[in-house]
Amino acid sequence: MRKPVIAGNWKMHMTCMASKDYMASFLPLISDITNDRHIVIAPPFTAISTLADCVVGSSIELSSQNIHWENEGAFTAEVSPIMLLEHNVKYAIVGHSEPRKYFSESDEQINKRAISAQAHGLIPIVCVGESDEQRERGEAERVIRRQVEQGLEGTDPNVVVVAYEPIWAIGTGKTCAADEANRICGLIRKWVGCDDLIVQYGGSVKPGNIDELMSMSDIDGVLVGGASLDPKSFARIANYQTN
Ligand code: PGA
Repeated sequence: MRKPVIAGNWKMHMTCMASKDYMASFLPLISDITNDRHIVIAPPFTAISTLADCVVGSSIELSSQNIHWENEGAFTAEVSPIMLLEHNVKYAIVGHSEPRKYFSESDEQINKRAISAQAHGLIPIVCVGESDEQRERGEAERVIRRQVEQGLEGTDPNVVVVAYEPIWAIGTGKTCAADEANRICGLIRKWVGCDDLIVQYGGSVKPGNIDELMSMSDIDGVLVGGASLDPKSFARIANYQTN
């Protein structure tokens, strides 16, 4: 039984003060949420400690937006697994298209981060997805398959989340059609060969398309950027309905 994971990725948004205000609005809106889904927030590193206090007694779980593979050392700007565990973090996003693009993050580094997360009991959320040009050239499946196979190499697929995020849909308002997102999510599960693999969709998820996306058979949740910054819209997404 695959339990959907609804995750909000705040990216480089939210001070500690803004996070507290957000949670004061958000928590009452999800108080009746059923236990058939995980609700996860990935704040910036500076707000993790504040969020860890805010979510005590709620069903919200925390994610980091990255993770290093060493426990400590001379790695300026990186954050280690043991630092995250201290704040009760459960998930770690790795391989998001922004660090892939802006900081030339490689599949090899992403894989090291994912392995390290699992070794410490954290669940990596491994992001994969093709660019516009790759899709137009008919290379989408090949690119995604390579990212999935290299990113997950040596990991246990039962404790990993894959987020399929077509780059052309991220922050653009252009959502991938639900049936196409569903097809790719199903392919990813087949390539990995694990029926229990959780595969999310991400890219311009919003209150207006969440119910359709979540009614798809192979989509086990969403990774939400922009729409997770507003507590009302993320609460609507978290409270998705399928029939
Ligand atoms: P978006 O971002 O929802 O703003 O498109 C998704 C993501 O980057 O995870």
